[in-house]
Amino acid sequence: MKIVLVGGMAAGKTTLGQALANQKGIPFYDTDSLIETKVGMAVTDIFKNLGEVKFRDLETEVLRELLDSKGNCVISTGGGIIKKFENRILLQDGAYVIFLDVSVEEQLRRTEGDTGRPLLMVQDKEATLQTLREERFAWYQSVAQSTIAVDGLSPEEVLKKVLILLTVM
Ligand code: S3P
Repeated sequence: MKIVLVGGMAAGKTTLGQALANQKGIPFYDTDSLIETKVGMAVTDIFKNLGEVKFRDLETEVLRELLDSKGNCVISTGGGIIKKFENRILLQDGAYVIFLDVSVEEQLRRTEGDTGRPLLMVQDKEATLQTLREERFAWYQSVAQSTIAVDGLSPEEVLKKVLILLTVM
């Protein structure tokens, strides 16, 4: 089975993905990292030099390759992966998807001083995060079999919840 983690920026997808893959002894992939390796540029530079549309195309390419590949794995995704209809269909068809739901307040705390997220290089981070949440919340829910509210939980606590989820599914 392929387990895919979706959710807003700083929801803890990468940290959880790594821990979960370790625990289950299966490979871990992160779509942002795979895109960076493919292009040889950091996400921020891809947005700056090639534009968001190109980044989104690369995101689809990488997601499709991962879901088409053989074998079990854990995949963590960028927060905007659910924007494209094509990606939502890929996710609904090809994986067990878990939505890590993080509040805007928690995102603000976790991204303080962060310069690696191009969409947060704005004056009003709170308004941006709020708008993204409103735009995307239903999309996350539409692709996910399960949702975990992560505010106030340590990475270990989130992992525990996911392991329980996977035993009952
Ligand atoms: C994005 C989230 C980022 C990264 C890019 C765009 C988004 O990933 O893919 O900066 O549109 O929400 P994280 O969710 O890992 O921060």
